[in-house]
Amino acid sequence: MKKILTVAAAGLMMMGATTTAMADAGEKTFKMACFACHGTGAAGAPKFGDKAAWGPRIKKGKATLYQHALHGFKGKSGTMPAKGGRTDLSDADVKAAVDYMVAHGQ
Ligand code: HEC
Repeated sequence: MKKILTVAAAGLMMMGATTTAMADAGEKTFKMACFACHGTGAAGAPKFGDKAAWGPRIKKGKATLYQHALHGFKGKSGTMPAKGGRTDLSDADVKAAVDYMVAHGQ
């Protein structure tokens, strides 16, 4: 019994570590590649933490937001360049940045 508990605890700790690493990647990518527009609302970008601006976008679903962040999107307020113009970023990092912005916009 004790052994099972130890294994379960170790598993939980590992899960915690993975989640933190992903959150870090999102925040890092956001600051590096997305903040220029999304930090200030420049060029018509939905501003970081602005629930009114993000609410209707989040309703479209994460899959759509990922697509628009990865491949670019021209909407009513402006143009979102593919990967924020940083095509050297991995898809996973861009998705993590979307997660990071969505988490702070709802
Ligand atoms: C050059 C400015 C600029 C940069 C850099 C930028 N964005 Fe955007 N982004 C925009 C604009 C403008 C819009 C709004 C487009 C519209 O709805 O008219 C937008 C919209 C979005 C949306 C919402 C799309 C939708 O369907 O409503 C997501 C998600 C997004 N950006 C993610 C990112 C991520 C992730 C990064 C960094 C990797 C990033 N953006 C970098 C300008 C930028």
